[in-house]
Amino acid sequence: MTRKSSGRGALVARRAAFRAALLAWYRANRRRLPWRESPSPYATVVSEFMLQQTQVATVLPYFGRWMAALPGFASLAAAPEATVLLLWEGLGYYSRARNLHRLARELAGRPLPRLAAQWRELPGVGPYTAAAVASIAFGEPRACVDGNVVRILARLTRDASRHRDSASASRAFAPLAQQLMNPAAPGDHNQAMMELGATVCLRRCPRCGGCPVRGFCAAARKGDPEAYPRLEPKHTERRTVVRVWCERSGALLLYRNPTGSRRLAGLHELPTAEQAGLDPAAAAKGPLVGRMSRGMTRFRISESAHLAAAGGPARRKGLVWVPLGDLPSVALSGPHRKWTSRILAQRDDRPGPCG
Ligand code: ADE
Repeated sequence: MTRKSSGRGALVARRAAFRAALLAWYRANRRRLPWRESPSPYATVVSEFMLQQTQVATVLPYFGRWMAALPGFASLAAAPEATVLLLWEGLGYYSRARNLHRLARELAGRPLPRLAAQWRELPGVGPYTAAAVASIAFGEPRACVDGNVVRILARLTRDASRHRDSASASRAFAPLAQQLMNPAAPGDHNQAMMELGATVCLRRCPRCGGCPVRGFCAAARKGDPEAYPRLEPKHTERRTVVRVWCERSGALLLYRNPTGSRRLAGLHELPTAEQAGLDPAAAAKGPLVGRMSRGMTRFRISESAHLAAAGGPARRKGLVWVPLGDLPSVALSGPHRKWTSRILAQRDDRPGPCG
C-alpha cells in the first residue's frame, strides 16, 4: 500500500447524507431475494454461507432446495453429512457446507449468538459473514467489507493506494466502512452496499448514471471509476490435468477423496491419470471425452478427459467403482457432475474399455 487517500475525510463529513441516499435507494430498488422476503437468523446464516464467493443468481435455486429440505438449525444439525453435501453439490467450496453443518451442531441446545464477535468463533465464519449475520439478523452496527464494498469505497474516495490483494484492501477499508455504517439500519445499510456493488458500481462499465451516491463519488466526478480500486496484478499459474473415463460392467471408476483432506473430503471425482495409476502422457493420447477450463485461486486449470486404454488402471487407494445408476446419489465435487453427465451422454456411442 502507498499513501492514504484524501477523499475519506470529505466523505465522512457528509456521512449522514450519504447514508440517507443509500438507504432510500435500497429500500426502493432492492432485489426481492428469498432471504430478504422471509428473513430469519437461519435464512441469513445459510444465505451468507452460500453467498461467500458465489453470485446471487447461482445461489437462488440452491437456497430454495436447502430451505425446503433443512428448514432450521435443528434439522441441519440432525442431517447426515451425505445429505448436506448433496444439497450443496455444484456450489463449490465444500468446506462451506461442512462448516455450516458443524456450526448447526455447535449451536444445538444453546441460544443463538447475537454479536459478530461471537459468530466469529463458529466454524466457517469470517469477519464478513459475522458482520452480515450480526447486522442483518440482530441489528448490530458492524460493517461488512468484501471486494464489492472495497470497490465502492475506493471509487468514492479515489483511493490512490495500491493494494496487494483483495484481503489487504478489505483490511485497509474496514475503518472507513465502519465510519459510514448507519446505526439506525445496520442490516439494510450493509445489504445496500452489497446491492450497490452488485448492480450499479460494477467492476467494468459502472452505471454511474443510476447511482444514488454519485454526488459523493470522487471517481465519478473525475470520470475514471474503472481505475479503482488499484490492485496489484494477479499472477496466475497454468496447470493441466488429464482425467480418465474408465468403465467396467456398468460401473464408472471414480476417485473418492480421503476423509482427512479438508476441502474435498468424501467427495468423488473423475480420477486423474495419476490417481488411476496411469501415465498422464499416455492417457492423454486416448480418445477425448471433453475439455474444461476453470480458475481456482491463483491457478488456471485446463482439464481434459480421455477414454482409458483397455487394460485399465491398477488397484489403488481411493478408487471406487460406482454403478452408473448410483451416480445421482453420490456427491461429486466441482465440475465432476458435468464430467459424468458428458460421459453418460457419450457412452451409448462408445463401449467401456476396461473390462
Ligand atoms: N452477498 C453477500 N450477502 C448478500 C446478501 N445478503 N444479499 C445479497 N448479496 C449478498
